[in-house]
Amino acid sequence: MTKTVNLTTTGGDYAYPLLEGSVGPDVIDIRKLYGQTGQFTYDPGFTSTASCQSAITYIDGDEGVLLHRGYPIDQLAEQSTFMEVAYLLLHGDLPKQKELDEFTYTISRHTMLHEQLATFYRGFRRDAHPMAIMCGVVGALSAFYHDSTDITDPQQRLVASHRLIAKMPTIAAMAYKYSIGQPFLYPDNSLSYTGNFLRMTFGVPAEPYEVNPIIENAMRRIFILHADHEQNASTSTVRLAGSSGANPFACIAAGIACLWGPAHGGANEAALNMLREIGNVKRIPEYIARAKDKNDPFRLMGFGHRVYKNYDPRAKVMQATAEEVLKELNLSDPVLDVARELEQIALHDDYFVEKKLYPNVDFYSGIILNAIGFPTEMFTALFALARTVGWVAQWNEMISDPEQKIGRPRQLYVGATQREYVPVAARG
Ligand code: ACO
Repeated sequence: MTKTVNLTTTGGDYAYPLLEGSVGPDVIDIRKLYGQTGQFTYDPGFTSTASCQSAITYIDGDEGVLLHRGYPIDQLAEQSTFMEVAYLLLHGDLPKQKELDEFTYTISRHTMLHEQLATFYRGFRRDAHPMAIMCGVVGALSAFYHDSTDITDPQQRLVASHRLIAKMPTIAAMAYKYSIGQPFLYPDNSLSYTGNFLRMTFGVPAEPYEVNPIIENAMRRIFILHADHEQNASTSTVRLAGSSGANPFACIAAGIACLWGPAHGGANEAALNMLREIGNVKRIPEYIARAKDKNDPFRLMGFGHRVYKNYDPRAKVMQATAEEVLKELNLSDPVLDVARELEQIALHDDYFVEKKLYPNVDFYSGIILNAIGFPTEMFTALFALARTVGWVAQWNEMISDPEQKIGRPRQLYVGATQREYVPVAARG
């Protein structure tokens, strides 16, 4: 029997179906609410709103659990390749060997960019932020790949998804090369997804480039940890843009724009800048005090999360990876000492304990990326590269869902009521 939730309003009593997921909170199906009561719900920031049904990613924020298609993130980060995770997110199950080989081959066949896009890069200033370039170039893909923009054709949708996953490393690496004035490098499909990206980023045509397996492995983990995260701001942006029927390249460009913000993907850049600014463990109390001061807008970047009210499971893997990479590369970074100490102080401070603020995925990622040699401006671009897999999986799921309509929220209007126009000469 369908469970219902009763609602009593000034207009009468109504019953709304309670929908059960496979795990996690039930949702009250209020689709008929406005038609029946003439009232809307009010939920700025969507803190209590499920915008869709999805079978891709599950998060239990209280317990610190993150599952992709049922598989825990730490198991994927330890044992799988990024291509396996991409296949899993897109198709629902881990691939068999033959499926994985075919998928990896298909992705590798799409890694090159249309040659004319190199000219497009040259239109940007050299000091352009890589995210500005990513927004522009990914949006521009729709002008180059007309044969994969018909969203009603599942085959074209799949080709567009493959293209986006395959071309993002090339696009991100070219953004970096452009900013430092080095020539673009073409992809090398004999390398792994991450190895190829490292070569296109750090290699030069004049010399052979050897992929360091430790760095390659760290990048693999970073990409997997960022691959998808349920209905976060950028994914919801991709879905909202896609709900109007916009082509996939335009939708992913919209997701990149949203990810750029410091409250979302831009936090990894902001977190490392903050740790550098603190610079010394002795200055931590000063910054903790600022974070707690209601009159100071400062926040501990890389701390807190809308959904996790426990340790972000991705942050745990990230912390271990940071320690491993610095050790293997024989590097010591005072910023890691500041991060470790800051984390310990915050985890025992009443303010952070009461508000359940824990390190998130961005707290340690910047330290690793910095050790590998990426400038801070590239951090969010790497996040966008990895998240593209989740975005295309979520976009495909949305387009195939017969219940999905164009996203069109309503509002609580608090502006002026109707009034008569007054000619400018007569305005007092
Ligand atoms: N430092 C200090 N105080 C914080 C922090 C922080 N990092 N995060 C939240 N708080 C406080 C807020 O001031 C607020 O206090 P109040 O209740 O006294 O007003 C309370 O905790 C709740 O904060 P909200 O902003 O309401 O929580 P929300 O869920 O909207 O925000 C967010 C989540 C944006 C991630 C927030 O924690 C934040 O700004 N963190 C820093 C930026 C960051 O690391 N973002 C990355 C998120 S992960 C990702 O996108 C991959």
